[in-house]
Formats: sequence, C-alpha cells, structure tokens
Amino acid sequence: MFQMPLRKLDQLRPEPTELDRYEVAATADLRTWQLKQLSWSLRHAYDNVPHYRSKFDAADIHPSDLKSLDDLAKFPFTTKADLRDNYPFGMFAVPEQQVARIHASSGTTGKPTVVGYTKRDIDTWSDVVARSIRAAGGRAGMKLHNAYGYGLFTGGLGAHYGAERLGCTVIPISGGMTERQVQLITDFKPDIIMVTPSYMLAILDEFRKQGLDPRKSSLRIGIFGAEPWTNAMREEIEEAFDLHAVDIYGLSEVMGPGVASECVETKDGLHIWEDHFYPEVIDPHTGKVLPDGEQGELVFTSLTKEAMPIIRYRTRDLTRLLPGTARAMRRMEKVTGRTDDMIILRGVNVFPTQIEEKLQTIPGLSMHYQIVLTRSGRMDEMEIHVEARPEFSDSELRQAAANRLEQAIKDTIGITSRVIIRDPDGIERSAGKARRILDRRPQS
Ligand code: DLL
Repeated sequence: MFQMPLRKLDQLRPEPTELDRYEVAATADLRTWQLKQLSWSLRHAYDNVPHYRSKFDAADIHPSDLKSLDDLAKFPFTTKADLRDNYPFGMFAVPEQQVARIHASSGTTGKPTVVGYTKRDIDTWSDVVARSIRAAGGRAGMKLHNAYGYGLFTGGLGAHYGAERLGCTVIPISGGMTERQVQLITDFKPDIIMVTPSYMLAILDEFRKQGLDPRKSSLRIGIFGAEPWTNAMREEIEEAFDLHAVDIYGLSEVMGPGVASECVETKDGLHIWEDHFYPEVIDPHTGKVLPDGEQGELVFTSLTKEAMPIIRYRTRDLTRLLPGTARAMRRMEKVTGRTDDMIILRGVNVFPTQIEEKLQTIPGLSMHYQIVLTRSGRMDEMEIHVEARPEFSDSELRQAAANRLEQAIKDTIGITSRVIIRDPDGIERSAGKARRILDRRPQS
C-alpha cells in the first residue's frame, strides 16, 4: 500500500510526564480501582434508580454480590429500550437540580434517548476527551476546528469541553456550511480538526472545488468518529490532507465522545479509558461474556458517572478487546459495524465497512457510497451506489470499474450485488453521520 510521508510524528507523541496516573498505571492497580468503582456504581444505580432496583431484584442479584470483576456478568443488561421506557428522566440517579446538562440522541423513530450529567460528570467527560485529543497528538496551545454538531448531539459540546480542558484554542464551527468550513480552515489555520470521517470527505471535495491544495492546509491531526470508518478511509484522508487521522469512539448513553480513542503513535485500535468505562464483549445471541480477543457486541458499565449510571449497556457495536500497546489500558478494535446495520443478504452477513474497504482498491471510485436494498419477487437485492472521482468521466471506464467492484465483492464477501456509478455529488452528503444504508424493501 502507498506510504505517505506524514507530518512529523515525534512532535505529536506525548512525553511520559504528560500522561495521567491511570494511563501509566499497572494493570493490577487499575483492576483494584475498577472493582471498587464497580461496586459503587452498582449500588448507586440500585439505591437511586427504581428501574435498576426492580431489574436486579427480578434477577435475584444485589450489588453486594459483586466480589470480583467477573461477577458483573451476573447482573442484567441495559438496552436502549430501557432508556426509552424511562423517558425522559427515569434513569437519573440524582435530583433534577443536580443535573447540569442534558443531551439526547434523535433516533429515527419514537422518543429520543435522554442522558444527563452532573457538574462532576462534565468534568470527567472533559478529562477523557482531553486525554483523547492528547493521545491523537494534540497539545495545549494548538487550534482545534470542531465541526461535530453542537446541540443535543454529544459530539460538539463533548469535543469542545475536552479541547478547552487540554488548553487548545477552540473554533466551534459545528457541522454544515461546507464552504465556510474551508474558508475558516484556510484563514484561521487550525492544527486539529474534529469531525465525522464522512463529512471530512465533503470538506476535502470542497477544498478541491475551490482550487485549494488540501495538503497545504495547516491541519496536522484529524480526530474522526461517531460512525464506523475503515483503515482504507484513513489512508484516503491522510494522504489527501497530509495529516494524522485517528479514531475516537463514544456513545451518549455511556458519556459521549471520548469513551475510547486511538493513539497517534500506533493507530492500532482505540484505548478504552477503562478507569471510567468498564468494557465487556458478549455473544450478541446468547449474552455470554467472551474472552478478550473474541469478536462480539461491546457492553459498557460506567464506573464514575453520577447523574446517570449505566450498567452493562448493550451498545450493539461489534468489536473485540485487545491488550494495551501505546497505553496500559485495553484497546477495542476499530468497530466493524452495528448489529442494526448488518445486512443479511441471502444468508450472508455484510457490513457497509466491508464494501468501503473494497472501494479503495478500484481506481476512479471515490469513497462516497450508499447501499440500497430492494426486493424483486422474494429475493433481496443489493445495489451499491458509488460516486466516480471528478476526473473519472469516461462511461466505458466507469462500467469497467463497476464490474471490477462487483467481482471484488463476489470474490471476498461472497454476494452478488449491482454497482451503480454516480456522478460526483450524486450521493447525499450529511454534515454529521453518513447514512450508508437505504432500505427500500417493502416492510413485511
Ligand atoms: O456518536 C458520540 C461521538 C461523537 C463519538 C463524536 C465520537 C465522536 P451517539 O450519537 O450516541 O454518540 O452514537 C453512538 O455511534 O454506538 C457507534 O455505533 C457509533 N460510533 C461512535 N463512534 C464511533 C467510531 C456519538 N469511532 C454510536 N467508530 C455508537 C464506529 C462509532 N462507530
């Protein structure tokens, strides 16, 4: 694979003295802390949230039954449905006056999922995001262009507070108005950008549209998350902008961005900030806890959250736990996809990220894509709509590229699909999370 000469890494790697005590703690010390906090968190939830009390009682389990970290497996899971059933504030464990902030995720159907934070929770959140930005190579004094959406979405304000905590100069532009994004990057010369990877591609197109060389921009670090993205996408962005692209993960129910984050020196998966968020990976069908290294559904329990403790929350994100590298805490592999985004096509499981990886191997195709599911008779069919790069306009070459992609998907994933090459700008853009799947099958 093409190796780009990236901006100097050495300046971005943190000095050991910059790391906090849990980033360098011995594993045994971390586990001791986790057990103590887990015990506190279970009790806090049981004592103050009727939902947890009745669920624990029904499962005949009590916080005092936790004697070791493995005992957590005996406690019931929490799901998005539990949060919806307790809409809006039923999952809060502190009086409403102590809730300093509320966020919510829109949800395409039904009620939004509401989450709350005390002042101390916001403090913790700022710390873990500051840690994440530093792991990405960010330092006090750098300028940070924050294009995650501000508002009820946790991305904008979460990144904002963390960047301020680290001592960065924040440019709170939020998402959208792509022309202006490019103008402010050019004029304000930020070192860091935080944005969804798919919107970063839209910003990249806009640079080119304006005749600007993105490699000459001031950006040195990109911190991308809120949606699944592949290493192929990382290469595309790194090469185009000559920056370091790292992954940041999180979810509102657990906190927001900064639950886990990649280190710039290794870019080998996301270190989970385990002193605040205890991870498990389970078999999504049986609910059984899997050993580290095995792929399954990620589950989190908060260790320090006050306003809304969360116990064994099923994220629906698929990944596996790996040992620490650049930091002592465990890593999670880049998320392959969500169980809800898994397409089952004629018995074969497919994730959008598997298609995304293939796009890069075919010259002429961009990384703007969408998967359209239709039904013909009783057969489900998958179309892949992908934009051609602007210079790739010859219709015969486009058809040949479509055929090559169909073949690559058949050979590696094992399914027959139809690839449709669209003109540049032919696929909807989102200023936040991209919509990868359009399901046009009749609802049965
Ligand atoms: O997306 C929080 C966030 C904001 C994370 C900004 C990173 C950056 P929610 O809107 O609650 O919160 O969506 C959470 O998004 O369960 C994953 O499915 C997905 N997700 C978030 N980060 C990543 C990532 C924010 N790095 C849901 N890779 C999660 C893959 C991600 N998926």
